[in-house]
Amino acid sequence: MKSIVAGLLSLGAVVKAVPQGYSNSLSDCLNTKKVPVSWISSPDYANLTEPFNLRLPYKPVVVVLPTTSKHVQDAVVCAGKTGVKVQAKSGGHSYASFSSGGKDGSMMIDLQPMQSIKLNGEIATVGGGVRLGNLAQGVWDQGKRALSHGTCPGVGIGGHFTHGGYGHTSRNWGLALDHIVAADVVLADGSLVHATSTESPDIFWAIRGAADSFGIVTNFYLKTHAAPEAVTYFSFQWGDALFQTQKAFTDTFLHIQQFGTNESIIDSRISFGIYLDGVATYNLGGTFFGTVEEFNAKIAPELLRGVPKPAKVITQSYNWIDYLILMSDKTTIKEPLTGYDEHDNFFAKSITVPEKDKLSANALNAFYTYIKKGAPTDYFVIINLYGGPGSQINTKDTTFAAYNDRDSLWVFQNYGITPPSIPFINGLNDAIINAQPKTTFGAYLNYVDPSYTAAQAHKLYYGDALYTKLAALKKKVDPTSVFWNPQAIGA
Ligand SMILES: Cc1cc2nc3c(=O)[nH]c(=O)nc-3n(C[C@H](O)[C@H](O)[C@H](O)COP(=O)(O)OP(=O)(O)OC[C@H]3O[C@@H](n4cnc5c(N)ncnc54)[C@H](O)[C@@H]3O)c2cc1C
Ligand SMILES: *[C@@H]1O[C@H](CO)[C@@H](O)[C@H](O)[C@H]1NC(C)=O
Ligand SMILES: *[C@@H]1O[C@H](CO)[C@@H](O)[C@H](O)[C@H]1NC(C)=O
Repeated sequence: MKSIVAGLLSLGAVVKAVPQGYSNSLSDCLNTKKVPVSWISSPDYANLTEPFNLRLPYKPVVVVLPTTSKHVQDAVVCAGKTGVKVQAKSGGHSYASFSSGGKDGSMMIDLQPMQSIKLNGEIATVGGGVRLGNLAQGVWDQGKRALSHGTCPGVGIGGHFTHGGYGHTSRNWGLALDHIVAADVVLADGSLVHATSTESPDIFWAIRGAADSFGIVTNFYLKTHAAPEAVTYFSFQWGDALFQTQKAFTDTFLHIQQFGTNESIIDSRISFGIYLDGVATYNLGGTFFGTVEEFNAKIAPELLRGVPKPAKVITQSYNWIDYLILMSDKTTIKEPLTGYDEHDNFFAKSITVPEKDKLSANALNAFYTYIKKGAPTDYFVIINLYGGPGSQINTKDTTFAAYNDRDSLWVFQNYGITPPSIPFINGLNDAIINAQPKTTFGAYLNYVDPSYTAAQAHKLYYGDALYTKLAALKKKVDPTSVFWNPQAIGA
């Protein structure tokens, strides 16, 4: 604990390095208001600006290291006055490095010093810089509580909770976003509002889906759940068997799709995804909020009915915290409060598949054929079940939050682990989309894809009706686009 406090203090103390070659008025403004910052000339600048996705390094004109909401307010005012664009950084895991601005010369407001977690009854008050692992551990330690969110402990609350947030609890508890009951938000004019469904309700609505364009959330207020005593983890592993023939691949997927939409088997207690890797790995894995006995008696036989026998099957009960650790693929979900240093160099695309259309045999055949034609070894695909009977993701609509994707059955992530796989990943997306021309596919906001133009991104993430509403609100509360990235509302 001591070293954590010392680390935060030394972060705040980097204030003084003399800015060279940048807008005097910006530095004057920040200095006058005593906002803690790091300039390009500061010794910690390189480290603070190294993005998670090393493929897209941008150079912010300044990094702000606020310890209070007032620092954030002052920094936003200074940026607004001098025409500098602003983006917050929470966990820094943006696929497009939007937390670095998405271009050179922006102001990065790094919320790393704001990492308090306080549980009061069922509500957790959480600083905007907290990483998911620390959040999950914190609410567990303070009251055996739990939340719905993704599995990677290094991801930040700031991006993840405001742009969706899916984990294998989401069909049961909804998206991470659905847990926000209030937020302290710094707006483009520098004001600080406490936004709820009744106070600043338009801001409360907009930050749940488009926070990057509307403000900086310094504190989240989150509704938690009692952590379950135990959950069942399941994994069905076919190895390369399902890549042997198109028929095995497509028929198995179609059976899983039928299984995932069969109300006599599936309810909100089940979440799962399909993981494909190279032409050698086909796994189905997920979580059941029930016992191993119930899973094995009722669910597993239906999943396996008429499909090739998996090479390996795991069904095992875990207590909540061990389950989170298992999902994280690490030995702990606790992450350092400063000096986080994990990176990747990647490109990913997503596809949201509407529940009313589902995936056709045609699309699955095209997907299979494309992979077999020449897949690199450095890619993977995750296809998560969002919809199906009982899904708590799809019980809400765009009046609840500025989030459009409330009717997907599946969400694909096509992930190229190194840059040479980019053309293959583009083709993988196209294989599905072109083979099912009557379907309107979308894309998932938290897998933000920098290869889209702003107009394409708006359509794929928000759709026309929601985007029009967001654009009108943006004009009202941030008319000069202080909060900006290449795909922001209004860009
Ligand atoms: C290894 C890895 C695993 C992942 N696993 C999952 C998963 O299981 N499920 C899932 O749904 N997604 C997953 N994702 C995607 C992840 O949800 C997004 O990348 C998310 O936006 C990252 O949040 P962040 O705070 O770390 O990112 P950042 O880069 O800090 O921020 C992302 C965007 O949000 C804005 N922002 C950040 N904080 C705030 C704030 N406080 N107020 C306003 N705007 C803010 C930033 O300006 C930026 O535009 C994963 C990503 C990675 C890299
Ligand atoms: C950032 O700091 C970490 C740990 O101190 C170090 O391993 C890493 O190389 C640094 N990165 C840069 C770009 O300076
Ligand atoms: C749904 O599951 C039940 C078994 O629980 C099975 O009898 C029925 O055929 C399934 N329906 C479809 C469409 O697969």
